[in-house]
Amino acid sequence: MSDLYPVPEGFAAQANVGKADYERDYAESVRDPNAFWARAAQRLEWMTPPTRIRDVSYDRGDFRIRWFADGELNASVNCLDRHLATRGDKTALVFEPDDPAAEPRHVTYRELHARVCRLANALRSLGVGKGDRVTIYLPMIVEAAVAMLACARIGAVHTVVFGGFSANSIADRVRDSGSKLVITADEGLRGGKKVPLKANVDAALKLPGTTSVETVLVVRHTGGAVDMQMPRDRWYDAVVDGQPDSCEPERMNAEDPLFILYTSGSTGKPKGVLHTTGGYLLYAAYTHWAVFDLKEDDVYWCTADVGWVTGHSYIVYGPLANGATALMFEGVPSYPDASRFWQVVDRHKVTIFYTAPTAIRALMRDGDEPVKRTSRASLRLLGSVGEPINPEAWRWYHEVVGDSRCPIVDTWWQTETGGILITPLPGAIDAKPGSATLPFFGVRPAIVDAAGNIQEGACEGNLVLLDSWPGQMRTVYGDDQRFFDTYFSTYPGMYFTGDGARRDEDGYYWITGRVDDVINVSGHRIGTAEVESALVLHPKVAEAAVVGFPHDVKGQGIYAYVTLVAGETESDELLKELVAHVRKEIGPIASPDFLQWAPGLPKTRSGKIMRRILRKIAENAPDQLGDTSTLADPSVVDSLVKNRQGA
Ligand code: PRX
Repeated sequence: MSDLYPVPEGFAAQANVGKADYERDYAESVRDPNAFWARAAQRLEWMTPPTRIRDVSYDRGDFRIRWFADGELNASVNCLDRHLATRGDKTALVFEPDDPAAEPRHVTYRELHARVCRLANALRSLGVGKGDRVTIYLPMIVEAAVAMLACARIGAVHTVVFGGFSANSIADRVRDSGSKLVITADEGLRGGKKVPLKANVDAALKLPGTTSVETVLVVRHTGGAVDMQMPRDRWYDAVVDGQPDSCEPERMNAEDPLFILYTSGSTGKPKGVLHTTGGYLLYAAYTHWAVFDLKEDDVYWCTADVGWVTGHSYIVYGPLANGATALMFEGVPSYPDASRFWQVVDRHKVTIFYTAPTAIRALMRDGDEPVKRTSRASLRLLGSVGEPINPEAWRWYHEVVGDSRCPIVDTWWQTETGGILITPLPGAIDAKPGSATLPFFGVRPAIVDAAGNIQEGACEGNLVLLDSWPGQMRTVYGDDQRFFDTYFSTYPGMYFTGDGARRDEDGYYWITGRVDDVINVSGHRIGTAEVESALVLHPKVAEAAVVGFPHDVKGQGIYAYVTLVAGETESDELLKELVAHVRKEIGPIASPDFLQWAPGLPKTRSGKIMRRILRKIAENAPDQLGDTSTLADPSVVDSLVKNRQGA
């Protein structure tokens, strides 16, 4: 078959997992998960090794997800202490600053251990202990990893908030988590532009419901001026520098929370996805080793931000648990020009490179020259994550970036899954551009029809998972019912992913995208309901409906239909004001690409907005509106079609 890219022979010969290993171990992992995961658990260093392995039921009334429930360990010990004897002088993190003229920094495992211990001691001295929540709102600097691991060391639960979120979004997350302490920086720096992190935290903590925060630690990063509000605000270095560089780690049960990470769903406010210590860490470490074929000398670079799950699992926990050298990049792919990624690859001799399709598509537009002027000879493996990768972008990534030499792993997973679930293992599974291919060990995907019937053979439908895996989220923080209702009630006895998928005649999975009201903008998840709620908070807006539409670079863009309060006038100024309003409420990542005035929205007679129709209008497919006979007032559709925005 022409679109099959076989595993290169040379790669297969040296791979951590070969074809026969995959077939044998996958079969065992689903036949006897207890035996398989008991053996896998030996990858971690346990204070008390687990004897109970899998304890799971997806049934209502008997619902539970527990892995390694009698084991004890500490995640920071696994990521740091256990490497000191053999890898103390090895580089754990390479920091590549936003400004290419600034010096990169190398942090060894020994230094990282000391920095984590100092912050952990400082946090304890500030009254933070096991089970307390800590919000981290930092740029892509080493302190972000230090902060996460310091929390893990003392058993505090971190909740990282991406630096592109606004004060309101920080406040929502602080309120929901009840954080006691916030760690931030004076400013971030991205593409030469400053991001006012501390000012955003100040604004967030003025909002109601945020009084749980007693202390704000401020990293001096750019040196920009900030307001320090005493005694709440403390300079990070003033509190941390004098601390001892060893710190007794907390003994954590495998099922004790490690972190909360907020993510968007199809309804309401973002939910706090809760991951626990043992299963999450094992799953992140194991997948990182197998999927990225990790070797001792690799220089591994994942371009995600630590504010997303990809940064948690595949910049911090997975790589460091494996004793890898991981690169942290502060900047953006286009600064100072479209060659930056590849210059960084050459500068640090990166061997494994993991990025998102949106970045590949954006760089592709600038042509081959910015890539070709660099060597990239160090690269041996490429990865993709966050959204479906179109075959054209896959081929460009393979041929131009990887010089047709490097296998590509297209990794499908979610914030909820903690780690990669469907992916080629690069030495074992032949690739097809656009397909995430086959399940990882222990993962049992299936495709169901709308009624929940499992489909056999080649088919298309909704993607579910029939069994648990150690990295699975354990609950929505503070809302067990919402957890069950969101993921386990649509198809009883199965985890519903929210994604659609196709399976081909070789059993390969092709993820087709979200089937719920979540849109994926440049690999970032945004709920249409969130943007709608933000819009209707504006006093001049009566009603709003938001849908995704196909976007060449971002994958999906945001299209908003807005009905104004009676008596208000449509104007370009108001349009700009509404876009700015959404940026303020949620953050720049949620800015609508297009906003259309809608004197009326297409609704059923019972008042339900027919998004299917709005999606088709936004896509410029007015001939595919389908049945409009159930509309209360079909004439609104004609006017919306006529006034459609965009190309
Ligand atoms: O729709 C799928 C898409 O991203 C969603 C998960 O988003 P998030 O929780 O933010 O995590 C992103 C990073 C893991 C999924 O439901 N998605 C993620 N990876 C892929 C993908 N879609 C297709 N192919 C992928 N490789």
